[in-house]
Amino acid sequence: MWESFLPYPVLCLLFLFSYLQVTSSLSLNSSSQSRKLCSSEESFALLNFKNSISINSSASSHCDYYAVSYPRTASWKQGSDCCSWDGVTCDAFTGHVTSLDLRSSCLLGTLEVNSSLFLLHHLRNLNLACNNFQGSRMSSNFGQFPYLTHLNLSSSYFSGLVPVEISQLSKLLSIDLSNNSLKLEQPNFVKFLLNLTELRYLVLDFVDMSLVAPGSLVNLSSSLVSLSLRHNYLQGEFPSEMFHLQGHV
Ligand SMILES: *[C@@H]1O[C@H](CO)[C@@H](O)[C@H](O)[C@H]1NC(C)=O
Ligand SMILES: *[C@@H]1O[C@H](CO)[C@@H](O)[C@H](O)[C@H]1NC(C)=O
Ligand SMILES: *[C@@H]1O[C@H](CO)[C@@H](O)[C@H](O)[C@H]1NC(C)=O
Ligand SMILES: *[C@@H]1O[C@H](CO)[C@@H](O)[C@H](O)[C@H]1NC(C)=O
Ligand SMILES: *[C@@H]1O[C@H](CO)[C@@H](O)[C@H](O)[C@H]1NC(C)=O
Ligand SMILES: *[C@@H]1O[C@H](CO)[C@@H](O)[C@H](O)[C@H]1NC(C)=O
Ligand SMILES: *[C@@H]1O[C@H](CO)[C@@H](O)[C@H](O)[C@H]1NC(C)=O
Repeated sequence: MWESFLPYPVLCLLFLFSYLQVTSSLSLNSSSQSRKLCSSEESFALLNFKNSISINSSASSHCDYYAVSYPRTASWKQGSDCCSWDGVTCDAFTGHVTSLDLRSSCLLGTLEVNSSLFLLHHLRNLNLACNNFQGSRMSSNFGQFPYLTHLNLSSSYFSGLVPVEISQLSKLLSIDLSNNSLKLEQPNFVKFLLNLTELRYLVLDFVDMSLVAPGSLVNLSSSLVSLSLRHNYLQGEFPSEMFHLQGHV
């Protein structure tokens, strides 16, 4: 065995040398295919959003029964890759922010029409559930996320009419608007139902639908697996066609 006549320090050097070779080739390879960093525009949009909304530990307390809340945005720092920030996920190839999960993040403040959140056009998942947006209107800009598949605004103190623009979110698989002070009206609702053909989960508990005819539900997506409509003041007969649904109606 060659080891037997090599002095110990030389062996160490040999090991060190081969170790360096491996690590340098590994780092070369990983750098050539490394994921893209967050773009400065998206990083800026996230930081602006963070700075426009305050953090207050009581803002998510209404959901503490269901989930532990903590301020995810508190650790976001300028100068670091936003793809590594808590609650933020990016596409490995393009570097675009594709998911923003800020549920139960102690966010307190109004979400304005001009919020920089609406500049994140590549989002597929947006979860703002269980915060306190202090009665903010649901902006028409919620329709400006062409790739969005999941939207969760549950229990986050939004108010007013659900804007017709959400009908533009034609890739949506799930939407949860439950437990706010939101209202859905007839023409908007039918447009919404007709355009969201991929929808599987629709949660509208506590959404005021008193002006929606239950019959319009016949136009629900055939992909639907779950529909939740508790406490939403629907009046009249439910179309019998609906009862093939497996979910809780
Ligand atoms: C690094 O990549 C080169 C070609 O790009 C390949 O020949 C080599 O085996 C790779 N090394 C490792 C450690 O994966
Ligand atoms: C947090 O919110 C509560 C209730 O809205 C308020 O009383 C309190 O002053 C707020 N705290 C801070 C630090 O803003
Ligand atoms: C709905 O929101 C209220 C506060 O407005 C809260 O007390 C309640 O726990 C929430 N329910 C659910 C199911 O999130
Ligand atoms: C957004 O609009 C509000 C008033 O509606 C204004 O106070 C605020 O400065 C605007 N913010 C930006 C970033 O333009
Ligand atoms: C339906 O979705 C398409 C995109 O798939 C969009 O161009 C159209 O404006 C939407 N219709 C409504 C009523 O929002
Ligand atoms: C939306 O978020 C709430 C709170 O985290 C959660 O309970 C609910 O299941 C979510 N809705 C969907 C459709 O995933
Ligand atoms: C269902 O959608 C069609 C358009 O495709 C519309 O003419 C019809 O009125 C809708 N049904 C109800 C009950 O809203």
